[in-house]
Amino acid sequence: MSLINQTVIITGASKGIGRALALTLAKEGANLSLVARSEQELTAVQEEAQNLGAKASIFVGNVADEAFVKNVIEQTATTFGSIDALVNNAGFGIFKQATEITTAEWDDIYATNVKGTFLFCREAIPFMKTAGKGHIINIASDVAKRVFDGGSLYCSSKYAQDAFSMALRKEVRKDNIKVSVVYSGLVDTYFHNRVEGDAHQEKYLSSQDMANTIHYILSAPAHVVIDELMIHPISQEY
Ligand SMILES: NC(=O)c1ccc[n+]([C@@H]2O[C@H](COP(=O)([O-])OP(=O)(O)OC[C@H]3O[C@@H](n4cnc5c(N)ncnc54)[C@H](OP(=O)(O)O)[C@@H]3O)[C@@H](O)[C@H]2O)c1
Repeated sequence: MSLINQTVIITGASKGIGRALALTLAKEGANLSLVARSEQELTAVQEEAQNLGAKASIFVGNVADEAFVKNVIEQTATTFGSIDALVNNAGFGIFKQATEITTAEWDDIYATNVKGTFLFCREAIPFMKTAGKGHIINIASDVAKRVFDGGSLYCSSKYAQDAFSMALRKEVRKDNIKVSVVYSGLVDTYFHNRVEGDAHQEKYLSSQDMANTIHYILSAPAHVVIDELMIHPISQEY
């Protein structure tokens, strides 16, 4: 399916997977609403997308802020006339023993990884229902399917995001709204507190690998839905 003039909201678009996806979809002619907290980095992505010929709006804020999310959705619908797809990609990890996790860290991870996904879905779905179609892609993790020592906070947040997505899929399928979940292994981004391209991450998936994968899911014919997609670098055991 062509993405020309399709409106796509991407959260976490200032760097990593979200940035690579924004630039990939810009080349395909999509209209973009890009969301993140870092204004300078997001503006740079907007300019790159525009230089590739795309229309791109930016929204600087936190995905866990309800008023902010409502504004992103309303402004996107007003500016572009539709919300064809939503990619809930913003997220981060904290890896500690459960006894070492602060309440603030717990709340922050759940606010971003779970509440942010919920808020964007809740606000976008009415527009998709009115249009009679839509596509939500939630970027989870392979640790939405397995756990590890030190992963109680991050893994449980990704399990929650995944369970929300699975239930949501059942709610909105009758409305012709697709819900896809991507379960990714290691990706060379800022997620691991290293810069993209760091030698420690050379065997990881690249953010472009992820962008290509999400583009593939988004481009499926109207009657096809890729409900789940698991992806790893060959160097990572699974
Ligand atoms: N890298 C991996 O190995 C890996 C593996 C599996 C899954 N994932 C998932 O992939 C997604 C993208 O991560 P990445 O690897 O691309 O990491 P990244 O390079 O650190 O990018 C994360 C993006 O999320 C944004 N973000 C974080 N918290 C936010 C908030 N509260 N509100 C708005 N934006 C926020 C960041 O922008 P600002 O800081 O400017 O807000 C940034 O654009 C995450 O959901 C992550 O859990 C990553």
